[in-house]
Amino acid sequence: MDYQNILFEKKNGIGYITLNRPDKLNALNWQTMQELGAVFTAMKDDSDVRGVILTGSGDKAFAAGADIKELSEMSPMQAKEYALEAQGILRLIEHFPKPVIAAVNGFCLGGGNELAMACHMRWASEHAKFGQPEVNLGVICGNGGTQRLPRLVGKNRAIELVISGNMIDAREAERIGLVNHVVAHDELLSACEAFLATVFKKGPVAVQLSLEAVQHGMEMTLEEGVAYEANLFGMAFSTDDMREGTRAFLEKRKAEFRGR
Ligand code: COA
Repeated sequence: MDYQNILFEKKNGIGYITLNRPDKLNALNWQTMQELGAVFTAMKDDSDVRGVILTGSGDKAFAAGADIKELSEMSPMQAKEYALEAQGILRLIEHFPKPVIAAVNGFCLGGGNELAMACHMRWASEHAKFGQPEVNLGVICGNGGTQRLPRLVGKNRAIELVISGNMIDAREAERIGLVNHVVAHDELLSACEAFLATVFKKGPVAVQLSLEAVQHGMEMTLEEGVAYEANLFGMAFSTDDMREGTRAFLEKRKAEFRGR
C-alpha cells in the first residue's frame, strides 16, 4: 500500500512508522488513522518486524490531536462512527503481538496522546508536551483517552487533565507514569532502539505471551487474570525456546532463541 500521511521503513527488526503531516503538527486526520490501521495489519505477520517505533516527523510534534477541521464538520452519528473506528485501530495497536514504543518527539495532544497511550510504552523527548485539550473545543476524548489515561496515571490525575485541558511537560508526564523515560531530544530514537535491542535477545514467543498476559489481564479481574497467566505460562512450556532457554542456563551458555 502507498501511504500518503505516514512513512514506513523496516531496519534491524524494527518497523519505523512516522506520522508525516508536519505542517499540521501531524494531526491525525481520517486518512492517517486508516493508514495506521493498514500498516499495523501488514506488520502483524511480517517476520522482519520484531518491534515497532512510532514517532512524528519534524521537531515540533508527535501528533497535535485529531484533525480539528475534520471534527468541525462531523454530525453526531459521524462522530460516533469515527470514534468507534479509531478505537478499533487503537485496539489493534494495543493488542499488537510485538512491542510497540511511542517515541514522543513534541506535542502529544488529544488523539495524539490517545494514540501514544495505546502503544505498549512511551519514551519522551525532553521537549515533549502532553495533554487532552478536547474540552477547549467543547468535546471530550473519543479515542479511549478517558479510559486509558486513568489506567496509566490513576483517576485523580486523569480527571485533572481531561477536565482542564492543561498541558504537562515530559518530566511531569514521567513523574505521573504517563511515560516510561524522558531522554535528550537527539537521543529519542536511539534510546528506543537500545531498549528493543535488549528485548530482541529474549525468547520472542515469551515476549509475545508476556505482552498478551499484561494486556488482556489488565482487562480482567485479578482472579481471571492470574488464571489467564497460568494458561499462557503453560503454553510457554510447549516452545523450543523454553527448552533452549532453560538448557542454556544450566549449561552456562547464551541461549539461542528461534521464536518457536
Ligand atoms: N488539527 C488540525 N490542524 C492542526 C491541529 C489539529 N489538531 N493542531 C495544529 N494544527 C495546524 C494549525 O491549524 C496550523 O495550520 P496552518 O499553518 O495551516 O494554520 C499548524 O498546524 C501549526 O499549528 P499552530 O497552531 O500554528 O502551532 P503553534 O505552535 O502556534 O501551537 C499547538 C501549537 C499544539 C498549541 C496548537 O496547534 C494547538 O493547540 N493545536 C490543537 C491541539 C488540540 O486541541 N488537539 C486536540 C484535538 S481533539
